[in-house]
Amino acid sequence: MSNQKLTRRERGKQTSQQTRNPPANPVPSAADSHTTPEERRHFRLGWWSLLVFVCLGIVLEGMLAFKAPWYVNVGDNETNRMMLRLSHAHGTLLSVLNIAFSASLARLSLPAGARVQASRCLAAATLLVPGGFFLGGLATHGGDPGLGILLLPAGAVLLLFGIFQVARHTGK
Ligand code: HEM
Repeated sequence: MSNQKLTRRERGKQTSQQTRNPPANPVPSAADSHTTPEERRHFRLGWWSLLVFVCLGIVLEGMLAFKAPWYVNVGDNETNRMMLRLSHAHGTLLSVLNIAFSASLARLSLPAGARVQASRCLAAATLLVPGGFFLGGLATHGGDPGLGILLLPAGAVLLLFGIFQVARHTGK
């Protein structure tokens, strides 16, 4: 009986101590969560580049809304408009791909080499593909995009290789 009373008292003490000193927040912070450098890098790259390319979309929207002649005059500037639109579209979608890659790394059993190669290729493609469209759209020559478009095929090859590195290990 006295034992029971003691136990209850002890329990009461414990509860009041817990109220005064609540346990640490169970939600892990970015610093102490067990994520790999690639997961953190692509998570950050994906969200920051999404911000940049959604901003580009808003700028394009503004040029359409104010009928900026440089952007809306069909004929003269069709190539500029198409290139900038493609930069925005590919940039936003590649940003989302980075976030998806980061989220799926924990589920994939990628060997270290393939993980690093896929990560580098995807990061480079995220800059080169929309960057090539963007630079190609800033200065055009007649109906042809500017020289910046040369970044695009390099980005496309790297993207393909990065996707292949991931795809070939998905069944394991
Ligand atoms: C994750 C977010 C987004 C994605 C995936 C996305 C994707 C795309 C795609 C695929 C196109 C090309 C459509 C086509 O050519 O038929 C496009 C065009 C466009 N987007 Fe976005 N978009 C996003 C957010 C935004 C935002 C927030 C704005 C601005 C408020 C915006 C403004 C535009 C404009 C103005 C065009 C057309 C440009 C033109 O025709 O000159 N987008 N977007």
